Amino acid sequence: MARPHIEPLDESWVPWRKLDLPGFPRGIEYRTLSFDDDTGAISAVAKFEAGYSQPPGFSRSSMEIVVMDGYLKVGDRRCGFGFYFYVPAGVSLPRIETPEGARVLLFYNDSEPSFVESDAHADGISPDAQPTIVDSVSDLSWSETHLFPATEKGCLVKIVRWDEETHALSFFYTMVPGFWQDNVSYHDCMEEAYHIYGTSWIMQFGYLGTGGYFYRPPYIGHGPFACEHGCLAFGRTDGELYNHFNWNPFATPEENHRRAVEKMKKRRPNMFTWEYRRSDEMWVP
Ligand SMILES: [Fe+2]
Repeated sequence: MARPHIEPLDESWVPWRKLDLPGFPRGIEYRTLSFDDDTGAISAVAKFEAGYSQPPGFSRSSMEIVVMDGYLKVGDRRCGFGFYFYVPAGVSLPRIETPEGARVLLFYNDSEPSFVESDAHADGISPDAQPTIVDSVSDLSWSETHLFPATEKGCLVKIVRWDEETHALSFFYTMVPGFWQDNVSYHDCMEEAYHIYGTSWIMQFGYLGTGGYFYRPPYIGHGPFACEHGCLAFGRTDGELYNHFNWNPFATPEENHRRAVEKMKKRRPNMFTWEYRRSDEMWVP
């Protein structure tokens, strides 16, 4: 089945395992945060040992990396705290080394982790294809989310990836000390997040501290929420992040889904027809 709802998870509850899949050099350990047992896709915390060295190569899955401790030497570039990588499937990265070790968030989006040693991209991938590499600390400023309806002021983001086709987001976010939002939210998309530093609180699921994680499928209500001392986190969605705000903290995902459909019927009637009646005899183009 697809990934279940996991919330909250503390990474310290998960054992470290050696990543000894075929193709990978030895020297990586990982903790699974969530895992799709249909596809092998995974979200994990990973540690590269000091002296780790990986030759140029690509993954058969698109992947994302967030550097949390230490640095990765990628080709000639030193990529330390706050660096973000999006690497499309089949796009070759230069040699990666971790002279002093490093700790990262590691996401394989489409299938199980894989590594194929190669100076060139995989067959069928344009030689011009490039990974996205962002130094989120030096190159980006914190900004309001610009979502509407929006979260309360004081929840700020650095968006490092926005997928043009799906509107999926990858982003760092911070809640300032004293942040408080008094309503409940749910979304039409999945959202997941990992707390790099600090603690936040959500009424339904309690406290999420440093090393805390959640994987939240669509339509699961969450909120009110608060952050007393400030936090830094990294989050992702698999579609457009629309805040369906409401005041029922205990509505079921099925109830929330129905309310979202009713809202869509009013707000986007043509989209509603397309989405919910295309296989129905009532379908009228
Ligand atoms: Fe949310």
